[in-house]
Formats: sequence, C-alpha cells, structure tokens
Amino acid sequence: MKTILITGGAGFIGSHLVRLMVNKYPEYHIVNLDKLTYAGNLTNLKDIEKMPNYTFVKADICDFERMKAIFEQYNVEGIIHLAAESHVDRSIKDPFAFAQTNVMGTLSLLQAAKIVWGDNFEGKLFYHVSTDEVYGALKNDGSFFVETTRYNPHSPYSASKASSDHFVRAFHDTYALPVKISNCSNNYGPYQFPEKLIPLFINNIRHNKPLPVYGTGENVRDWLFVEDHVRAIDLIFHKGKVGETYNIGGFNEWRNIDLIKVMVKITDRLLGRAEGTSEKLITFVPDRAGHDLRYAIDSTKLHEELGWEPSLQFEEGIEKTIKWYIANQDWLDQVTSGDYMRYYEEMYHV
Ligand code: NAD
Ligand code: TYD
Repeated sequence: MKTILITGGAGFIGSHLVRLMVNKYPEYHIVNLDKLTYAGNLTNLKDIEKMPNYTFVKADICDFERMKAIFEQYNVEGIIHLAAESHVDRSIKDPFAFAQTNVMGTLSLLQAAKIVWGDNFEGKLFYHVSTDEVYGALKNDGSFFVETTRYNPHSPYSASKASSDHFVRAFHDTYALPVKISNCSNNYGPYQFPEKLIPLFINNIRHNKPLPVYGTGENVRDWLFVEDHVRAIDLIFHKGKVGETYNIGGFNEWRNIDLIKVMVKITDRLLGRAEGTSEKLITFVPDRAGHDLRYAIDSTKLHEELGWEPSLQFEEGIEKTIKWYIANQDWLDQVTSGDYMRYYEEMYHV
C-alpha cells in the first residue's frame, strides 16, 4: 500500500481532501498529520475515521526529528502539505506563529523528505498547497493572477506562504526534489472555522449578532467551493507536471458587500425570517490593516492541461453551504464553545 501523508488534514480544506482520498483510493494508506491547533477539528472526519486505510497522527510539522521519524515509520511516498496558520487577521496580531509554522514547518517537511528519500526520488512527490494571496492585490481593472505573476505579498500570512513557496521551489531547483505547487483563491463550504467571512456571518445572522464589514465592503474576493478545490488537488497530484505551479479558481468574483447581501437573503429565507430582516445587522467597522483590494485567479492552465473545471455555480454552492451550517448548528456550537477540542482525547483515549 502506498502511503500518502496529508498535513493539516483536520482543518477545513484538509478534511475535505482526506475524505476524498480515503474514499476514492482504497489502495492508498492516508496518514493525516495535524497538530490540532484551534483550527484542527477531528469531528470533521467522523465519517471516515474508522476506515482501514486511514491513520491520524498528532504532531507539529516544525518538529523536524518527528517528521523524519514519521516519513520512515510509514514509508511515505507522497506528501500533500496543507498544514498552516491560515487567517490573515491572526497574522496581523501574531506574525511569529505564521513564520514558524508556514515557513519553518514547510522547511522541516522538505528537509525530512529529502533526507529520508535519499538520492532516490523515483515515485516520490512533495505537493505544496498555497494561496493566491502570495501575488498581492489587483486593481479593479479586469486583470487576473496567472502562474507567472510576480510575488508581492502584503500581509504576514501571505508573506509566510510566499516564503514557503520559495523554499519548495528552491528544493526542486537545488536538490531535484519532485515538487508541485498550487495557488488557490478563497474557499467556502462546510467545516470552515467560523472566523472566516462566510461561516462567521452565517453564525452571526443565526444569533442576531452584528456583521462586521471591514472598510466599505468594496474589496473583491474570488470564491471557490472547497470540494472543487480538493478535486483539483487530486488531479494535479496525479496528473500535473513535476516542478510546475497551477492556479486554481472558478472565475467567481464578488465584492464583499454584495456577497454579504446574498448571504443575508438566503440565510433569512432558510431560517424562516422575512426577507431583509437581518440586513440591519450589517455594521461597517474600521478596515483591516493592509487589506488587499482584489483577488482574481486565472485557472486557464489547469483547465487546458488537465481539463479541470468547477462543478458548481456559485449560487448553488453558497445555498448548499448555508443549508449545511443551518443543518449542522451543533457543529458551529461545538466549535464556538471549544468542545470540539476534547474529541481527540475521547476518540484516541490519550
Ligand atoms: P485551516 O486553518 O482550516 O487548517 C489548518 C490545519 O493545519 C489545522 O487543522 C491545524 O491544526 C493544522 N496546523 C496548523 N499548524 C500546524 C503545525 N505546526 N503542525 C501540524 N498541523 C498544523 O486552513 P485551511 O483553510 O484548511 O487551509 C489549508 C491550506 O490551504 C493552507 O496551507 C492555506 O494556506 C491554503 N489555502 C487556503 C485557502 C482558503 O480559502 N481557506 C485558499 C487557498 C489556499
Ligand atoms: P477572510 O475570510 O478572512 O479571507 P481572506 O482575508 O483570506 O480573503 O476574508 C474575506 C474578505 O472578507 C476579506 O476581504 C476580509 C473581509 N472580512 C470582513 O469584511 N469582515 C470579517 O469579519 C472578516 C472575517 C472578513
């Protein structure tokens, strides 16, 4: 059985990827390595945790000796690396944590792979999952990020991801480590930690709490349904070219304020409230420092080389997402109360 190590598999995107890989590839042993920070939630994986081809390992990617030991113990042949500190607002408050995990943690994994794999990289792959935020911000001029756009990160989060991307490429160029990188736009869908815009606002509408819109709400983000992202990762992992970068995005740009109004409308309807009831919760607050104006991904390369395209129209995806959070209010309550953090001890009897 071939072992694929997925880091950050208890997080939002990682848990969708682990589910897809465990179900789709019974011939792979999927090892989910996660530190279980506040963002790691093993209840996201209840449905697959007993599968015979799945193992969970609690570990910190910054622990280099442990990473080497895990590569050896499980005979890891491929890694898909998602573990990261991922929230821009947190990076503004505590940039060190972002440099530590995103830069040093990635370096620790790269070095572990290089040492344990030795001189024989045949059949090995290091796939690094990154973000479009490394490219900086676009103006409202119809332009897009392409794979060759110059890196120009503005937040400590995007600076740390940019740095990790550079290390991944450096290991390819210096040591011939087989690597692939993808840079994706903003994701949305089930199991996203409710500090990010979409689940935070759904939860606040539910509790009649203010919806804090940064600045004037003019900022533009390009939204992709998380299951489409993990399908792209699967495709790139198996069929993408070694040493290449692929942009992932659904050509789906929204001004924050317009997206919020759509969310308010759908959530009110699904909660049985009169249309427009929750619009009064919209509250403009001081802007995020260094707030990037616009992100927009051109994913033509991924479409033309590998035939990927998003499966869902945004209207369908956002409705599906809001329905999921309303049907799974206990998940939101567990996360906001901190109860989910006890699940690891209960499940693994530690
Ligand atoms: P997330 O914050 O939901 O999950 C991150 C996971 O990493 C958590 O389970 C956490 O416990 C784990 N982790 C953090 N530090 C760790 C450490 N030191 N050792 C081991 N595990 C650790 O993040 P997400 O939104 O699922 O993002 C996953 C990846 O995708 C990140 O690399 C992020 O940069 C990238 N990405 C995210 C988006 C997005 O919209 N969310 C878009 C593009 C790319
Ligand atoms: P977020 O979900 O934090 O993702 P990112 O910063 O990585 O794009 O934010 C999405 C957009 O929503 C971004 O422009 C910031 C804005 N935003 C708010 O206006 N209010 C909020 O409370 C949050 C969390 C985000």
